[in-house]
This record gives sequence, structure tokens and C-alpha cells, in this order.
Amino acid sequence: MTDLDSYLASFDGEPGYLDWAAFGPLSPAVRAEAQGDTELLGSGRPSSIDLVGDHVREARELIAEVMGADAAQVVLQPSTTAGLMQAVYGLAGGLMLGRGEFPSLTVAATRAAEALGSIELQWLEPQDGFITPDIVRDALTDDTHALAVSLVDFRTGYRVDLEALRDVIGDRILIVDAIQGFGMVDVDYSVADVVCAQGYKWLRAGRGTGFAWFGDRALERIAPVLSGFTGVEGDLPLDVVPPPAASAQAFTVSNPDTLAAARLATALREIVDVGVASIETEIAARAGDVIFFADRYEIPVVTPREPERRAGIVTLAPAPQDAAPLAASLANHGLTVTVRSGLVRVAPHVGTGANTLRLFGDALAAFSSTRVW
Ligand SMILES: Cc1ncc(COP(=O)(O)O)c(C=O)c1O
Repeated sequence: MTDLDSYLASFDGEPGYLDWAAFGPLSPAVRAEAQGDTELLGSGRPSSIDLVGDHVREARELIAEVMGADAAQVVLQPSTTAGLMQAVYGLAGGLMLGRGEFPSLTVAATRAAEALGSIELQWLEPQDGFITPDIVRDALTDDTHALAVSLVDFRTGYRVDLEALRDVIGDRILIVDAIQGFGMVDVDYSVADVVCAQGYKWLRAGRGTGFAWFGDRALERIAPVLSGFTGVEGDLPLDVVPPPAASAQAFTVSNPDTLAAARLATALREIVDVGVASIETEIAARAGDVIFFADRYEIPVVTPREPERRAGIVTLAPAPQDAAPLAASLANHGLTVTVRSGLVRVAPHVGTGANTLRLFGDALAAFSSTRVW
């Protein structure tokens, strides 16, 4: 078996699951690791406790490997949002972001601007929600200090062109929420300054598995405003309060959850073994299958067609009167998707099998046969 074959075989959930953008059922390896490590943490043996703790180093190294970055610039976080807040609260000046971003960004940016008074929000409101280089170029001002954007939009599945965004913003700060694409699409993260994600969706690692990378420019220009006692050089700072560390470590509050780190490291090892490029090819094909069925039954798709502008999310935009019957047909066929604001978000993974896609086709056919034009 090749690594890709064993990765494919590791998708052992029930057929019908098309909601990986919401939650990723844990991989068998992650489940086994978590069980074993829980036992180790129950032993009371220092060596066992250290063994589990070493997954923090391993997870940081694997994140760095996926990113092509330096592990010293990676820190574990409780969630994507926690990592984004570390970056956003440390900004000053104009912060540009889409009004339609996942609330991790919009709420953090608004609260930080209100609390600190030193951030000016520059909202982007493109009609289709796509944060394109042109949209950003047109809105840039001399005061724009940073752009915060999702790698893959949670609503439409649009994947930004990070390199083109970098070209447009010059040396301003680029903060990327990568949770909907990390490890699934092969992108050049070196053009970003901060990248945050978590492993409970596409990586199949469960919650608590957040992480953040801070590049050189971010370390120079973003203040570690939310820095906690672990954010200093050296050991536990007792009876003195040293300055924050000069490294990414400054952007931490407390010690990481070692069990979460074990799950994350295990999940990332699977990704590294297969290779992100192979995963991207597979996921593009599964998303392409979803688009094929939507086209066949004439259900509009808002996700871009070009594989390089999407990842695993395909969003259907049925006519308003069709949304409820379509959602009902999907549910009746045992399919799990996210239905929100009249949009149907379908999110297959690499291991989404032919049986699930067949059910999806059947659900669309049943919906189509009752549709009133
Ligand atoms: C784009 C995006 N960012 C952030 C989040 C929330 O991430 P976390 O739970 O890791 O804070 C989600 C969750 O759906 C998301 O889709």
C-alpha cells in the first residue's frame, strides 16, 4: 500500500458525511494515540508524562514542515481564534478585512479596535465575498498597516491567491486564517506574516489543536499584547516580570495541552507522509465531483471552478424556494452538510468514497424531480 492508499483507507466513518468544513471525524491513528497517551498520563511516571509532553515539539516541527517554515516560529494555541487574537490585538493602524470573514476575525478586530483605540478597521465588502487582489488594491490607503484574510472562505469555498495579495499589499502585514485549507492545499506560506489554524476539521485531530506561525516581519511589528507567563525567555518567571520573548513564544498565554498536541502531531504525520500536493489533487477531484452533480441538476455553485481558487468546500446557492426542499432531500438521503442563510455547503474530503457521492447524486436527482420551475 502506498501512503496515499493507507491515508484513503483511514477514512473509516459512515457514508454520507460531507461536512468536513464544520468538523472532521477523528482519524483512527489520532484516536489510538489519544487513548495511549491518556493511559501514559495516568501512570504517574515522570518519563511517561515527558513522553506525552514531547508531542508539543513534534507538532511544532510538523507544522513547520508542512509550511516550509522554522519550527522556532511556530507556537501551539488553543484554537485558530486564539492565535488570530494574538496577532490582531498586537496591531496598530489600519487593519483591512472582509465583512464576511468568519467571526473569529471580525469580532476580534472589532473588540481590539474598541479596546485599544489604535486600530482603524477598513472593511471590504465585495458582492461575491471574494477577497481578490483587485478588491484589496482598490481599498488600500497609506494608513493600511495589515490585511487579515481567510485562506479558504468558510462560506463560499473561495481560496485566495496569497502571492497576488502579497504583491498588492507590499510590505504590509498579512495575517492568514488557514483553518479551511491547512494541509489540504499546497500554498506558499512564506508570503504571509502570520498563519493560524486548528486541526479539528480537515486534519482530523479534534479540538484544542490550534497553532500559529509568526514570521520575521510579524515578530518585528506585532506587539505581544496578550502575552502570558509562558511568553518569556527561560523558565517560570518568579518574583520578576521579564519582557516578552523576542520569538513567537511571546504570543502564548500558558502551557499547551499535551494530549491535544499528541493528536495534532499524529494527524500532521499522516499529512506529511502522503504529501500536501497529493492531497490537494485528490481533494480537488472530490470537490470537482460535487460540482459535476450540481451542474447536472442545474443547482448554481458559488465556489470558483478553477481548482487553484478552491479547496474542499463547494457551496450551492439554490433559488430561495429550492433551499428547504434541497436540504430536506440531502438529509433524507443520510447526507450531512451545512445549510446556512440559504446556502448549502458541501465539504468532501480525500476519503469521501463513491458510495457517498452516489448518495449525493441520488439526493440531487430526487430534489430535481420534484422541483417546480
Ligand atoms: C474560517 C474559519 N476561521 C475560524 C474558525 C474557528 O476556528 P477555531 O474554532 O479554531 O477558533 C472557523 C470555524 O468554522 C472557520 O471556518
